[in-house]
Amino acid sequence: MKYPIKEAFEAKEKAYAPYSNFKVGAALLCEDGRIYRGCNIENASYPVTICAERVAMAAAVADGNTKFKAIVITGGDNYCSPCGLCRQALAEFADGDFKVVLAKNETESKVYKLSELLPESFNLKND
Ligand code: THU
Repeated sequence: MKYPIKEAFEAKEKAYAPYSNFKVGAALLCEDGRIYRGCNIENASYPVTICAERVAMAAAVADGNTKFKAIVITGGDNYCSPCGLCRQALAEFADGDFKVVLAKNETESKVYKLSELLPESFNLKND
């Protein structure tokens, strides 16, 4: 599978992060091959901030696309791991094989299954 690494770095350029100065970019690959980008959007009221991953998810879902295959995340100068809230948000749509790709740069990345990063995730069926 070709992960949308370049697209995640492009999305990071769009980040609005004047408070933390920590820019994050995400590119969400769907089963039909479409790629949705997201960047973090901060706010003067700090908790209003939205993470890059959930911005990308919102773009996909608003476009009618809920079949997720993988997400590439890039933030700061090193590997950027998704926060707990974003892991739970992704689990809503991700199947067991959904991949989370942490890209340090265009050539170095680490690939995880979401189930490794969020084992025993919450769901209403308790399964
Ligand atoms: N951030 C993300 O965009 N994704 C994450 O998974 C963790 C954190 C953003 C939120 C905030 O704008 C900045 O990184 C510093 O916390």
